[in-house]
Amino acid sequence: HTYVVIMAGGVGTRFWPFSRQTYPKQFHDVLGIGRTMLQMTFDRMREICPPENVYIVTSQEYYQLTKEQLPMLSDHQILLEPARRNTAPCIAYASYKIAARDPEANIVVTPADHLILKEQEFTNRLKVALTETERNDILVTLGITPTRPDTGYGYIQFNGVGIGEVKKVKEFREKPHLELAQAFLESGDYVWNAGIFVWNARAIRQAFEAHLPALHDAFGEFDQFYSDAEAGALLDLYPLCENISIDNGIMEKAPNVHVVLSDIGWSDLGTWKSLYEVSEQDADGNVVDGHIVTQDTTGCIIKTPKERLVVVEGLHDFIVAEFDNVLLVCPKDKEQKVKNYVALAAQRG
Ligand code: GDD
Ligand code: MG
Repeated sequence: HTYVVIMAGGVGTRFWPFSRQTYPKQFHDVLGIGRTMLQMTFDRMREICPPENVYIVTSQEYYQLTKEQLPMLSDHQILLEPARRNTAPCIAYASYKIAARDPEANIVVTPADHLILKEQEFTNRLKVALTETERNDILVTLGITPTRPDTGYGYIQFNGVGIGEVKKVKEFREKPHLELAQAFLESGDYVWNAGIFVWNARAIRQAFEAHLPALHDAFGEFDQFYSDAEAGALLDLYPLCENISIDNGIMEKAPNVHVVLSDIGWSDLGTWKSLYEVSEQDADGNVVDGHIVTQDTTGCIIKTPKERLVVVEGLHDFIVAEFDNVLLVCPKDKEQKVKNYVALAAQRG
């Protein structure tokens, strides 16, 4: 009864110009190892469930990319959203569709664009969670020990009490402002939400019913799953869905949230710097992927198309990234500005 839902419809703007509306991060071979983030996410679920129980939820415009990268999937496993409505509708759609065929389903929900270095430990943690959600109607998330007051994550305060290694959550706080994140970090009492969830179909249905009733009604009464009319019916339904994340919509509100502490070598590879940090550096501390020659250059991340020779001299702690006719050259410590350039690039065409 185990299923996996891979959320692959985001755009990942902080990773521009690599991550683009037409070609977002999850469809890239970000690490330069011959597998895309989506493919790695799929591979990682090998021991969790058979491939026919894996569902991908993505935007209609990424159907071709998904199909090319995961040719083993049948079309009914690729759920296409006609509009972007954040993760709550995405999860409702997938959960209610899976439950329509298997009400006893036990479901893992994962982003398509994260890096997990300790795969065996990751599998173990998921199995711990799945064992509990098979018997209990609880919402489980994986928790990561925080290392900085990052405001891009959810923060979870937990009790020592719970069901074995599955700990009861006291408070779930999505994307706090900096002072609060700092206080959470210093208290030593909080972990980050990895955004990887485990629950059974009944528990997530109850949670939607209680906290996002409009989505519950929309998908609970949807009777076109697996039919030829599914796409057409979604076209009417989706634009009406509330645009809200699962974190704000359910995890912050539900009383039955639990966490499994996970030391799994996790990174959400949200930014260039985070990719730099997890990648192998050369003797000068550069991370290079492409046809690149460096001289008197240190601490840089350089990722450019293989067909172009790139020579870099005298550059320190910079990002140099080129993809599809856009070249970015930016100091590593100014990378929070990268997302501003997305709008600028759109204006310039
Ligand atoms: N199908 C679909 N549709 N997928 C989506 C959509 C959508 O409308 N919006 C986002 N996604 C996908 C993204 O591609 C990503 O894989 C995943 O859902 C999570 O969305 P993000 O937009 O990346 O969320 P976040 O990074 O801001 O925050 C989440 O992840 C953090 C950890 O990385 C939250 O769960 C935080 O609490 C968490 O700490
Ligand atoms: Mg993310």
